[in-house]
Amino acid sequence: MPDYLITWIHLAAAITLIGGLLFSQFVLTPVARKTPADSKAREIVRLSGRRFRTIAWVSLIILILTGAYQMLNESGAARIETTWGVVLMLKLLLFVIAFGLLLIHDFIIDPYAMPSKDASPASVSPAVSARADTLQKAVIAMTLAVLLVASYLSRI
Ligand code: HEM
Repeated sequence: MPDYLITWIHLAAAITLIGGLLFSQFVLTPVARKTPADSKAREIVRLSGRRFRTIAWVSLIILILTGAYQMLNESGAARIETTWGVVLMLKLLLFVIAFGLLLIHDFIIDPYAMPSKDASPASVSPAVSARADTLQKAVIAMTLAVLLVASYLSRI
């Protein structure tokens, strides 16, 4: 596959991940907060969150695979002794932090889970929602930082 197509897939995955996170944080969640806790709207937001979780993890896997391919292609340049290599390592460090935070958000705190099968979104504790919200903001900040370092990387 030509290199430009790999870069295109890498960028499309980054857009899908960051765009989805921003949409969820700044559009979907604020709109849901304006509706009663046991409304149908809240249930739709919960189901949207679940669906986006799959899309986000597929995007992450694509980012890792296409990123690793590009790294191997750079051969010598990706060595830690070069400035490019050091900046790339910084990008990877930020990515690993974002990855870890998303892992905790999605699989440990799990803001989309219900205490029981028959429970409504109103039964999710506000403390859990607040923690999930803070974590999601941290993931957004980290992925935007990865994007900033990636932009710098493409200029050196
Ligand atoms: C949130 C995650 C990520 C974002 C937002 C992101 C974003 C970007 C962007 C915008 C570029 C610039 C494309 C260009 O101008 O050529 C890029 C290139 C690249 N990315 Fe990522 N990336 C992410 C994750 C990763 C991961 C996990 C790896 C490694 C496993 C990786 C390795 C690379 C490499 C090696 C390049 C080529 C750099 C160059 O040739 O200048 N990226 N990435």
